[in-house]
Amino acid sequence: MAADRPAPRLRRARQLDLYRRAMQAMPGGTNSNFRAWGEDTVYVDRGRGGRLWDVDGNEYIDLRMGYGPVILGHADERVDDYVNERMRKGVSFSLTSEDEVEAMELIKQMTGWVGKARMTVSGTEATMHAMRVARAYTGRNKIVKFEGQYHGVHDYALISVTPNDVSTLGSEDNPVGLAWGRGIPEAVSKTIIPARYNEIGVLRRIFEREGHDIAAVIVEPIMGNAQGILPEEGFHQQVRALTREFGALLIFDEVKTGFRIARGGAAEYFGIKPDLGTFAKAIGNGYPAACFGGTEEVMSVLPDKVSHGGTYAGNRVAAAAAVATLRILRDTDALESIKAVGTAIQGELREVLNTRGLPYVFTGHPTMFGIMFRETVPTEYRDWATSDHELYDAVAVGMHARGAMPEPDSREPWFLCEAHAREDVVDKVATIFSDSLDAALEARAHAEQSHAVVTGMASGEHVAAHSAAADPD
Ligand SMILES: Cc1ncc(COP(=O)(O)O)c(C=O)c1O
Repeated sequence: MAADRPAPRLRRARQLDLYRRAMQAMPGGTNSNFRAWGEDTVYVDRGRGGRLWDVDGNEYIDLRMGYGPVILGHADERVDDYVNERMRKGVSFSLTSEDEVEAMELIKQMTGWVGKARMTVSGTEATMHAMRVARAYTGRNKIVKFEGQYHGVHDYALISVTPNDVSTLGSEDNPVGLAWGRGIPEAVSKTIIPARYNEIGVLRRIFEREGHDIAAVIVEPIMGNAQGILPEEGFHQQVRALTREFGALLIFDEVKTGFRIARGGAAEYFGIKPDLGTFAKAIGNGYPAACFGGTEEVMSVLPDKVSHGGTYAGNRVAAAAAVATLRILRDTDALESIKAVGTAIQGELREVLNTRGLPYVFTGHPTMFGIMFRETVPTEYRDWATSDHELYDAVAVGMHARGAMPEPDSREPWFLCEAHAREDVVDKVATIFSDSLDAALEARAHAEQSHAVVTGMASGEHVAAHSAAADPD
């Protein structure tokens, strides 16, 4: 039991220095709000395969993989050598290279349904352009998105994404649009209609109310921003049928699922033909490659009727990375290996969890999965909120100190890469998880005991009170 072992501690001296220095130059000491973890902010030195090292020399099994893009492993020589060879010819011309053509041919080939595609630099830009194309093609203004889904950081995407307090999302029948942070014009946020994932009735009512002005439904086919909540049987088919019925488009945001859960992404996996799709992350093994694509018909609004550009769109580094990565995903059994290692890790974790008698559910796909401490299978973002995510967060943070790094926020799934399958990580991850879980449970029991002493409550009564509060249903 972890309780018998001393609590491990990370070396932090250099990172704390860097944090204090970075705080003078960058808000939160980082280039993204999501990486700003206060004094625990991690400053990375290097990565190789499925591992990373911070600047203090602490080694971790990486279970974030940069939030998903590093599908093959850090510093993968097959991709890096190709990119290096191509970039020596120059990286930015604002002209078009053969790599860009081949990258988009690969997207067409692997999806089977994309007729034309354009590169962007980020997933954010990809979803922003896909929404614009949808509005342009249909001549309508509004986009439906699902609560808890993340489509990047442009104004149209930051509605009803991550509140901890779900009461702010409005009633179950009539969700309200909740802007994430200040600075989003009200006029923009009013064009986004929040719906609830796996609740086709709510979506139908939205379409019946204002279907005439809905250009598209954008959906993360698996909810990557809520531990990978899966669609219920037939949900995507129903959404597809509804969008067709009301003349709206369907945008599959495959930034996380794209070429991770299947060679043809979630569209292939769930047997759906969307009208538009967005891809990023795994298509470039960590290089900033992204794109949006759609059927020949829908994409015909480009280039004449819709604006899209970007100095770095299709730059050599990203395009070459996409070519090298997509060829590997298409031609090798990388995806099968990643699924196998994810499945093996889940098997070990199941054994650990079963012996603790905790309610838990695995979410997502073995290549990007979550662990939710709750009794029943979650179907939407509101279910994440009623899971025991405080316990999950404590376990995740405790894993860092023990040598594995999942995201310390329970909304983010664990991401596996091909290199994990070669590195014999399964037992290590299970031991680290087990130790951290025990430590978190012990800390919780300790806190409850102290609380019971302070309040004078009998400990038996207190445990009963706590389990009622933790029970999601
Ligand atoms: C589903 C989804 N869409 C869009 C984005 C935005 O991509 P990027 O961070 O490259 O802008 C993300 C990023 O996590 C994502 O998960």
